[in-house]
Amino acid sequence: MTKRTVVLMPGDGIGKVVLPEAVRVLEAAGFEADYVHADIGWEFWCKEGNPLPQRTLDILEKHKISLFGAITSKPKAEAAKELDPSLRDKGYVYYSPIVGLRQHFNLDICIRPCKTFKGNPLNFIRRGKGGAVEEPEVDVVVFRQNTEGLYGGVEWTDPPDEVYAALKTHPKMARFESAPKEELAISTRIFTKKACERIIRAAFEYAKKFGYSSVTLCEKPNVIRETSGMMRAIAMEMAEEYKPIRFKETNIDAQMMWMTKNPENYGVLVSGNMFGDIVSDGFAGLVGGLGFACSANIGEDVAIFEPTHGSAPIYAEFDPCIVNPMAMILSACMMLDHIGEMELAQKVRNAVAKVVEDGKVRTYDMLKMSGSQGVVKDGAASTGEMADAVIDCL
Ligand code: NAI
Ligand code: MG
Repeated sequence: MTKRTVVLMPGDGIGKVVLPEAVRVLEAAGFEADYVHADIGWEFWCKEGNPLPQRTLDILEKHKISLFGAITSKPKAEAAKELDPSLRDKGYVYYSPIVGLRQHFNLDICIRPCKTFKGNPLNFIRRGKGGAVEEPEVDVVVFRQNTEGLYGGVEWTDPPDEVYAALKTHPKMARFESAPKEELAISTRIFTKKACERIIRAAFEYAKKFGYSSVTLCEKPNVIRETSGMMRAIAMEMAEEYKPIRFKETNIDAQMMWMTKNPENYGVLVSGNMFGDIVSDGFAGLVGGLGFACSANIGEDVAIFEPTHGSAPIYAEFDPCIVNPMAMILSACMMLDHIGEMELAQKVRNAVAKVVEDGKVRTYDMLKMSGSQGVVKDGAASTGEMADAVIDCL
């Protein structure tokens, strides 16, 4: 195995707790790497006026691969108040370092696997024929376009005159002309052909590499004709290249209904930014929620792997910490897949699966307790104990 360098960005709150646990698991699995720390998050906003310092971008640029914990974000006014007094009123404006990372490195491909682990008490169950209780096995991997669409940031309240004038050239704007311009809020949904092609190709390639039988485009082209329509046209054409992988289509609204009806019918799913965000959270809820939801942000050059959850700041102060490290551990597995260490990734996933199925060690979320310092006394595993259990299984 060639020795890798992996950038570790713990960030804030429980990011600082779960990331070292994942590294411990990687080491126990026999993954050999050098680790380089990089600063990101609230602390650096407060101290330096920048939650994503240039030195961190340089480290990422150099080493390309990173594990990321989570960050704390706060609204603008609160952010301004917590800035070091010596930096106030100097034009520093808080922005999300995650969005910053995605834009800086064009991390346009977001992958969010949602897979049932047997025996997880958080697994979704439904009623089948004759009232039988069924636990469908979900194995869905959502490919979400990560940089464009509704989250692209091109938006206005009371748009500039030239924007308003341009909009008025569209016949459908007639309906909005009775509203005063200053009462208009506009968020655009811009898709580029290149980004659509990249996310759809990534989805098909993944299906091919990992043996999924279908790729489903989840958009709404019957109504959102231009953007969803562009994705659909590209996907239909590309699907020809990837036969016999089946190409399917669903509309986001219907998908959210079918998700609980027949989640086992889906394999790889591909969507634009917002619908991908929605559908991936939905599927994650069927397989254990935030304690299990892992993700990858992949660009042409740099790739960053992170749990979907945030920094849960209150929990970070608990001693011992009680949050579930599985989401971070599974994100580390995605990193292993990405760098070609698929066997090692599978070894760790198997250990995770064994711990969940054995059911002897469970964090508070798996026991459906509400999070408090007392849960360990009541039988919940701490974050460290959960990671220990995975290591024992390795
Ligand atoms: P959160 O994900 O940090 O926590 C929400 C709740 O989910 C927690 O109170 C806890 O009950 C549960 N939870 C989260 N992670 C868990 C885990 N590993 N195991 C068990 N339970 C877990 O979201 P919240 O409270 O809305 O935001 C806290 C901070 O995190 C905010 O500043 C927010 O902006 C930021 N955030 C950062 C994200 C990121 O770094 N990618 C994503 C989402 C929020
Ligand atoms: Mg989300």
